[in-house]
Amino acid sequence: MARTLIRDLSSHLDETVTVYGWINTLRLQRRMQFVLVRDHTGLVQVTHPRGGEEDWIEAAFEEVTLESAVKITGKVVANPVVKLGGLEVLPESVEIVAQAETGLPIDEHTGLDQRLDWRFLDLRRPSQHLVFDVQTTIEQAMRQIADDEGFTELHTPKLMGTASESGAEVFKVGYFDRTAYLAQSPQFYKQMAIAGGIDRVFEIGPVFRAEPSFTSRHATEFTGVDVEIAWIDSVEDVMAFEEHMLQRVLADVCAEHGEQIAELFGVDVTVPTLPFPRVTMAEALTKLRATGWDPAGEAVDLDPEGERTLSALIAEEYCHEFVFITDFPAEVRPFYHHRRADSADTTASFDLLWKGVEITTGAQREHRHDVLSAQALEKGMELAPLAQYLDCFRYGTPPHGGFGLGLSRVIMLLLGLPSIREATFLFRGPNRLEP
Ligand code: 4AD
Ligand code: MG
Repeated sequence: MARTLIRDLSSHLDETVTVYGWINTLRLQRRMQFVLVRDHTGLVQVTHPRGGEEDWIEAAFEEVTLESAVKITGKVVANPVVKLGGLEVLPESVEIVAQAETGLPIDEHTGLDQRLDWRFLDLRRPSQHLVFDVQTTIEQAMRQIADDEGFTELHTPKLMGTASESGAEVFKVGYFDRTAYLAQSPQFYKQMAIAGGIDRVFEIGPVFRAEPSFTSRHATEFTGVDVEIAWIDSVEDVMAFEEHMLQRVLADVCAEHGEQIAELFGVDVTVPTLPFPRVTMAEALTKLRATGWDPAGEAVDLDPEGERTLSALIAEEYCHEFVFITDFPAEVRPFYHHRRADSADTTASFDLLWKGVEITTGAQREHRHDVLSAQALEKGMELAPLAQYLDCFRYGTPPHGGFGLGLSRVIMLLLGLPSIREATFLFRGPNRLEP
């Protein structure tokens, strides 16, 4: 018999249906057997009175174990006493499709590390499933807006012959008789696409960072959203695109999952107003120093505590969860960031903070070959390993800019998860390559 999803049972009252799912709870009483079956859309009570003749159902419920996969056919009946949706299924047949071993390795009290060891079981919790439904909605909304705005989606290579942005933070892998590197950003390739006349470039793909970081917001492999836009007038065009995209994403998430997010994570999704507040790095430092942060007065960039405090100050002042920090000093930015015309020490770049955490770094790029080469040399870089990148700027490349957004961080912040580990299907960190 065709499958009926548990969330749809209320439109099948007094019909015989088959539900496919897992044994969530067994309450086997003296006269009655109550079995809660779960699929990815909900929970239903299956109610069976004992004492029939040759009662195969009674025997099956005695034998079956928690988390076994089952198919249960029965009649859906209204019962106002049942808390789960005011209905229950009276079984006519029970098929144990795959019996689970007893002694499940995790339960609701298990710590995160062991849950990650048994991630497939952890994912059976409805809240964990919701994480990836939300991710699907986010990516869909991003692709829609990118399409509406004339972007071309690319898949840049993740194996590279030279380390991309810098020598640090890059994984080396054996590649026949030489060494390859895992891309720590699509940065150079998306700029190559711009040089190739693809006006607006968009990619959602894996990013690898060999950082030995154990914080709640760092992974060694994560999903990045990368955008690059040609013919911009200034970096403001890039920020304007990003804030529109995030507003659209959050509106879609709110409409599709807002209720369930509130129920399972206790979080109200706020659709942000436009424009997002913007502060220059100099203004941010002044605001922060007034709170006693950086007593020595020497900071040129924010640390995680500075990011948290700044977001809190902005939330108070503007009632906004997001803030763009602009005009980073050149010394803390990569060589390819475009410098402000009126101040060579200042880049036309930005970070976007959400709820106190960096989710994006972006910038206008330097598109003039001579200036770009000079900036690389100024950073103490050798030009030879950059030759193919620099070549992209020798034959007429327009002004452009873009950003990289960490998707897993966005999901962590959106759902109020304590760590990026729970916002990732299978987390990768310095101590975790399995499962
Ligand atoms: O700030 P990042 O390093 O910037 C770049 O990769 C530039 N090429 C982007 C650009 O277009 N200028 O990385 C971009 C974002 C960060 O803001 C953060 O959200 C996320 O990627 N990210 C990480 N997420 C999880 N784990 C890590 N180790 C991350 N490192 C960066
Ligand atoms: Mg950054």
